[in-house]
Amino acid sequence: MTATTTLTTLTGRSAAQQPHWPDPVALEEAERELTERPVLATEPEIVELTGGMDLVARGSALLLQGGDCAERFHEAVPELVRQKVDNLQGLAAIMRSGSGLPAVTIGRIAGQYGKPRSSPFETEETGSRRQMPSYCGDAVNEPEFEPVGRTPQPRRLLTAYECSRLVLDEVRRSWSQRPVLERVYTSHELLLLPYERPLVRLGAHGVYSGSTHFGWIGERTRAHDGAHVALSRAVHNPIGVKLGPSVSPDDAVALSRSLNPEGIPGRLTFIVRFGAKDVDRLLPPVVEAVHRHGSPAVWLCDPMHGNGLKINGQKTRLVERMHAEVESFVRTLRRHREWPAGLHLELTPDPVTECVSELAQPPRFTDFRSTCDPRLNPRQATEMVALFLSLL
Ligand code: PEP
Ligand code: CO
Repeated sequence: MTATTTLTTLTGRSAAQQPHWPDPVALEEAERELTERPVLATEPEIVELTGGMDLVARGSALLLQGGDCAERFHEAVPELVRQKVDNLQGLAAIMRSGSGLPAVTIGRIAGQYGKPRSSPFETEETGSRRQMPSYCGDAVNEPEFEPVGRTPQPRRLLTAYECSRLVLDEVRRSWSQRPVLERVYTSHELLLLPYERPLVRLGAHGVYSGSTHFGWIGERTRAHDGAHVALSRAVHNPIGVKLGPSVSPDDAVALSRSLNPEGIPGRLTFIVRFGAKDVDRLLPPVVEAVHRHGSPAVWLCDPMHGNGLKINGQKTRLVERMHAEVESFVRTLRRHREWPAGLHLELTPDPVTECVSELAQPPRFTDFRSTCDPRLNPRQATEMVALFLSLL
């Protein structure tokens, strides 16, 4: 397939979770400009990560994927990127020393600027109770509750590209002197089609996405006949799909076959996020069905997205529930003789208190900085990784 036919097959499919862009001409122009920009992730780098994912799929390496729920444009500066990369490297080093295995490391970084939302509109919680478009990530609009900033602006897609480039340059700087298997690669949710489509290119190994090394499809955009699945099927990058409580065993089988028709180990990762309450009931039939009838997948545990709650109006997650989901995940995968490959975490090098312990009464959100979901601070992330290792 050529890049051009890929684009043709992508048009006409319905794409969930696209913001309402009020200026379609400006949107078209932004998409056109992106087609003229060089790729961000290069094909040789993607092929190297593919080699790492092959080891993960064979149970010869672990996988750590982590970073912000939503990156911010103003954080695309070397010093902050270095802190994020060091944080990931530190956790990966714990994984390696605790398991004796390589730990393939992928940041939610250099492109995580678009967010799916449960509602397209948001009502101000205090004061005037005004309604305006939800914040959809810095690639679309601004988080502040203010009508002009909340209007989706197509030029922001180009800023997302520029910021991703700056961040990726710094990520690459961290690679020098390191073995290939100890590099931090990039990933983000393949969500905004006017951003993703123009960065799909034809390389020496076929069609690939030049927007990132690893891309994933979110829980809200994994319809079989939708544009996000079509895009991911078309590219040879390693890809992930989030599986949450609404997935049936048959859906998971169909996704595995459609996204990994050749059964390539490491090509497809299922990032499961059922929540501590439902994981014991919902995960086993999904793993069983894919094992028997599907195409191979790497199994990765996201203990964050099924465990959100609000305390006193503040979004948070309880560490105890996330630990419980990690435990159930490892137990279930073991029972089905599948490799519990690792963790997908939202985390930050900053000492935030966005996630809390239910043992601390009352929970104190003394430091909440995320513009989207609550992240683990370094101590909480280290404890999560240590718990995971203790279960292997
Ligand atoms: C996310 O990873 O930030 C996210 C929105 O996840 P999910 O698609 O699993 O809800
Ligand atoms: Co999130």
